[in-house]
Amino acid sequence: MSTDDLTLIRPDDWHLHLRDGALLAAVLPHTARCFARAIVMPNLKPPVTTVALARAYRERILAALPAGMTFEPLMTLYLTEATTPDDIAEASASGFVHAVKYYPAGATTNAASGVTELRRCYPVFEAMQKHKLPLLMHGEVTDPEVDVFDREPVFVERHLTTLLRDFPALRMVLEHITTREAAQFVRDAPAHVGATITPQHLLLNRNAIFAGGLRPHSYCLPVLKRETHRQALVEVATSGDPGFFLGTDSAPHPRHAKESSCGCAGIYSAHAAIELYAEAFEAAGALDKLEAFASFHGADFYGLPRNTGTITLLRQPWTVPEEVDFGGVPGVPMRAGESIAWRLDT
Ligand code: NCD
Ligand code: ZN
Repeated sequence: MSTDDLTLIRPDDWHLHLRDGALLAAVLPHTARCFARAIVMPNLKPPVTTVALARAYRERILAALPAGMTFEPLMTLYLTEATTPDDIAEASASGFVHAVKYYPAGATTNAASGVTELRRCYPVFEAMQKHKLPLLMHGEVTDPEVDVFDREPVFVERHLTTLLRDFPALRMVLEHITTREAAQFVRDAPAHVGATITPQHLLLNRNAIFAGGLRPHSYCLPVLKRETHRQALVEVATSGDPGFFLGTDSAPHPRHAKESSCGCAGIYSAHAAIELYAEAFEAAGALDKLEAFASFHGADFYGLPRNTGTITLLRQPWTVPEEVDFGGVPGVPMRAGESIAWRLDT
């Protein structure tokens, strides 16, 4: 192998949307070709709110896995105001539910049954703290008075400090962080507070949403931010700080749902996720930091063993297709029709 090849311990994706049915079957191989495990988001319709629903969803994911591929779905429960401490005890005992996901009601795709008031979940947080079950947070306020670009910093300021004070041992992950404020909060927080970072937030700033016209395929939530925030995310991702780990937030939506008068939020990256992260780390001169971010920090945070197999990336540019199949309907993947510098050796 040339010095341009890069071999890593097989990585995991700590924030992934797999959906269900034909769409699940279409997207799962993109993730499983590279990642050994993924934290699977519970925002189905209806959401995955109980251990029984998570068990059935896990079985559907495993049934959709093509023969010869190995992949372990790490399930999550969708937190609602009806979730009970008993649900948490059951989740903890299940062995396959690894976290609980908090969506502020209405914050993003399929978040209608989310939480309106964090205080209402305090008995559940108490149980999660006791059972060491991590709370995964979509960290944005939904207050319509708050500027859409400020919703994450306002969440950090209004809610995170309080949560950390009231539940000093609760394991927390601030998901898909997008701002300097979130990055600094997690950097300065205790070791049981972590954050995932997506490829789009490392590679793009908000100009991508308006490049030559309105670009619905660059719209996700939390929305892309200005360049200084992107730089702050690159800095923490490549710093070696174990609080930051890979979470693609790959979120498939059919082309027609994104190219609409009210286009939905979500960027699909599973077809090229590790390759895109490699680009971002290389641009920062930090390829040597990619393996820990992609393959060690998340497993260590979740208390799971690190993977033992490896993957190899080759410096061989390839062109991303204009469309991918989303189970009978087309979807537009990140970087569609454009070149990516790295290719996964398969
Ligand atoms: C996600 C989706 O499509 O499910 N969309 C997104 O923009 N990230 C939901 C989410 O993680 O917010
Ligand atoms: Zn997500």
